[in-house]
Amino acid sequence: MRIRSVELEMPNRAAAVQFLQNPWGLIDAGTRGDTTYLRATSDQAYAIAVKESPQSALIAVTFTGSRAEVEAVYARVQKSGLKYGKWIDEFDEPGRGAGFYVSGAEGEPYRFVAEKDKTAALPAENARPLQVSHIVFNTRDREAGSKMLTEVFGFSLSDRTRIMNFLRPDNIHHAVAYADAKNVSLNHIAFEMLDTDAVMRGMGRLKDAGCPSVWGPGRHGPGNNTFSYFVAPFGACIEYTAEVQRVPDDYKVGAPEDWKWPPGRGDHWGIASRDDSKLIASSATFPYRPLA
Ligand SMILES: [Fe+2]
Repeated sequence: MRIRSVELEMPNRAAAVQFLQNPWGLIDAGTRGDTTYLRATSDQAYAIAVKESPQSALIAVTFTGSRAEVEAVYARVQKSGLKYGKWIDEFDEPGRGAGFYVSGAEGEPYRFVAEKDKTAALPAENARPLQVSHIVFNTRDREAGSKMLTEVFGFSLSDRTRIMNFLRPDNIHHAVAYADAKNVSLNHIAFEMLDTDAVMRGMGRLKDAGCPSVWGPGRHGPGNNTFSYFVAPFGACIEYTAEVQRVPDDYKVGAPEDWKWPPGRGDHWGIASRDDSKLIASSATFPYRPLA
């Protein structure tokens, strides 16, 4: 199982699609009805879907696996008490997957899909994301989210800090994190770049396009990934990240005391500037679309 894509809806899809292609670096993967799909260079059908809608919302974060893996999660979901949708034999989208939607305890929208069509990877490029790296949810109860992902979805907990839990479905340190907050909302969506040079060049490209970094550059503690964050013109916080730690199956779950920083520090490098007001404002822009 691995993270595949994020589905968003918003007004003015055309402007968002343009931004996500250039300067962000994603590639047009086609439009069906009122939804445009954009892919990265990895072997996945798409990385982000943008649906035209009067209001902005997060429709889903989508994980893909084999048919057997997705069916196994569905079987556990049906006994979990979580709100879930009926099994869908074929989503009308690139990859033509089969699967289902399920809502987390705080309404965070998940989807699991077994793709029917294989997608060939494209050559990796410095100026293009490789894939979606992770999504972070603001939460009032991260232990509840964490328990759901481990017990129902079959993910593993990688690390706990003073304010966040990091979880993974595969050997990449995190694909989902829950961050303590006053309100439940989408915190950010991260895209994995080829390397740290690609993150830095991305910062320049975004700055030239009038979208300077709001936090970065830096190197996180848990996951050891380099990062830079931006607020997209459509309101969401999005991140370029690279060098995300790959972990063994028996990775020891880190505890808050493993992730202490000296005063004034929040990452390994200690050079990042951070615009908290813009980051906090961006958190309110994509409420979760309720499961139909
Ligand atoms: Fe992140």
